[in-house]
Amino acid sequence: MTPAGPLGDHPQRDYARKLQLFNAFAGPDLQALMSAAGVKPGMHVLDAGCGTGETLERLAGIVGPGGLAVGVDLSAPHIAASASNAIRTGQLQADVARLPLRAGSLDFIWCANTINHLRDPVDALRGMSSLLRPGGRIALGQSAFLADMYFAWDLRLERLVNEAVRQYYRERYALDERDLTSVRALVGLMREAGLDDVRPQTIAIERISPVDVATEAYLREAIFLQTWGERLKPYLAEADYAELERLCDPQHPSYALRRPDFHFIHTFTLVSGSH
Ligand SMILES: C[S@@+](CC[C@H](N)C(=O)[O-])C[C@H]1O[C@@H](n2cnc3c(N)ncnc32)[C@H](O)[C@@H]1O
Repeated sequence: MTPAGPLGDHPQRDYARKLQLFNAFAGPDLQALMSAAGVKPGMHVLDAGCGTGETLERLAGIVGPGGLAVGVDLSAPHIAASASNAIRTGQLQADVARLPLRAGSLDFIWCANTINHLRDPVDALRGMSSLLRPGGRIALGQSAFLADMYFAWDLRLERLVNEAVRQYYRERYALDERDLTSVRALVGLMREAGLDDVRPQTIAIERISPVDVATEAYLREAIFLQTWGERLKPYLAEADYAELERLCDPQHPSYALRRPDFHFIHTFTLVSGSH
């Protein structure tokens, strides 16, 4: 059996709900990036690490009936969720490092928040690039190259919470700080894999209170409860954890999303290169 990826991915792993929450929140902003990166009607495109398929649907919408959009993901539960979401696309459960697709058959590959889940990203990137026709492009997207802003009024608590999250991941996956942050070198990764005309673009997705339903659901469920929550308790001083609990509790008068100074900034960096 293939060993799990550096962040614990394997064919039965399921975090579909978190992916759906993220895509409902960020999807419209990411769609604009797809067109800017060069996805056009009629193209044959691949969503590598397609998760629950919301992005695949958006890609299919851009390439239109004359094009083709295919999604690949290692996780069977994610592929199942994707198949029920995405109606005009094909989905395949496979490892993006060993794709059963024809060399030179694709115009564009989109790969968001996935390259950091792979054991050998350069090797996977070379393999994916070989699927592109000459001049075809691959775009790697990653969230939060620049630290997200959650608590505009309290940089100190935000910094401690971010550090606690990193400590949690370091212990859970036995990674060091450099392993966790090496994904910021996407430009170098692209060049090492032999891609040309490498271009970065970073967007900021911003929300202020009162936030829309999709943003509230993403922040409350995926961040406040899952990414933070009880699991950060061992990594924060008692008073800081208590403050964080109050800010994350919708029943508490201090709930962050009701504050007039709530201003959330999430950055997403897309680096594309051509074959
Ligand atoms: C953080 S999620 C991002 C999903 C999607 N691109 C999105 O933006 O919502 C990472 C995805 O990569 C998938 N994945 C991890 N390792 C993989 C591999 N070796 N081959 C294919 N998919 C993989 C996971 O199952 C998961 O769906």
